[in-house]
Amino acid sequence: NNYCVILAGGKGRRLWPSSRDRFPKQFIDFFGVGRTQLQQTFDRFAKFMDKENIYVNTSCEYLEYVREQLPEVAADHIMAEPIHRNTAPSVAWAVHRIMMTNPNANLIITPSDQNIFNDTAFQSNVLEGLQFVEQHDALLTMGISPTRPEPGYGYIQKGERSEQGDIYKVKAFTEKPDREFAQMFMESKEWYWNTGLFLANARYLRQCLYSFLPYVLRSIESTKVITTIEEEDAFMKENFPRYPNISLDYGVLEKSDNVYVMKCNFGWADFGTWHGIYEATSRGEGDNVVIDSDVILEDCSNNIIKLPKDRLAVINGLDGYIVAEEDNVLFICKKEDSSALVRRYVNEVQMK
Ligand code: GDD
Ligand code: MG
Repeated sequence: NNYCVILAGGKGRRLWPSSRDRFPKQFIDFFGVGRTQLQQTFDRFAKFMDKENIYVNTSCEYLEYVREQLPEVAADHIMAEPIHRNTAPSVAWAVHRIMMTNPNANLIITPSDQNIFNDTAFQSNVLEGLQFVEQHDALLTMGISPTRPEPGYGYIQKGERSEQGDIYKVKAFTEKPDREFAQMFMESKEWYWNTGLFLANARYLRQCLYSFLPYVLRSIESTKVITTIEEEDAFMKENFPRYPNISLDYGVLEKSDNVYVMKCNFGWADFGTWHGIYEATSRGEGDNVVIDSDVILEDCSNNIIKLPKDRLAVINGLDGYIVAEEDNVLFICKKEDSSALVRRYVNEVQMK
């Protein structure tokens, strides 16, 4: 009864210019390891879950990438959203799709923009979590102790310990706080980073979506005629654009008072921002991070560099910068607080 849903419909704009609207980060072999981020996410779950129970949600723009990169995933296991509506509507669709075949499904929803370093620990945490949501009608998040005041993540405050191991009742969930709060959360030791990995049994998740985002699931189910994938696809094509544009974090997790968090320790690195990657990657001499690129560095420190394969860069005396080039855009920017700048440039430069 265990199912996995991979979310792979984001645009990955904070990693511009290496991630582009027409070819976002999850479809790139970013670190040059031979598998794209999407493929690595699939591999991570296929190692210990039934491959037939892995589903992928993406945008119709990226459907071909998913098909090409994951030939082992059947066509009816891929949901192609006609328009970007963020993760809550996308998860609602997945819940409906999976419940058509198995109403007793236990789900783990996973982002496709993170790396996990300890597979064994990861597998045992996921299996334990799936068992927990099979036995409890609750939402379960996976938390990691923060190592820096990162405002780009969700923060989870742990409350009372449950009867099961390292699982705690959640006191509060705050998605993307400002920097001062992030700093406070980090210092208090009571807060975890939300990894974006999220578990629930399908029946209960459906109930939550019903209460917090009434238009979404109710609209699917009130028509009462959807029993085949073809009917569902056609329905979504028409109705998806009417759904609210909201993430699962804002739309459900912040609102529910029945959320739990499992304290995890599987070596987690978010792969959403340049800064995040810099923080999580092992550094070379001078604390520089060079990703799959040919660079000669002299007197350089604290930089993150990613260039196309056919480039050789020679850099002298640079400290604390992002240097990234992809598809006719060269981007050089101070690393600190670069996320907001990246967002602005993507819009201004009009080279999404
Ligand atoms: N199918 C689909 N459709 N997938 C989407 C969509 C969509 O409209 N929008 C985003 N995704 C996918 C992304 O590709 C990514 O894999 C995942 O959903 C999460 O979306 P992000 O846009 O990367 O979210 P975030 O990084 O801002 O925040 C989330 O992740 C953080 C950890 O990395 C939140 O869950 C935070 O609470 C969390 O800390
Ligand atoms: Mg992300």
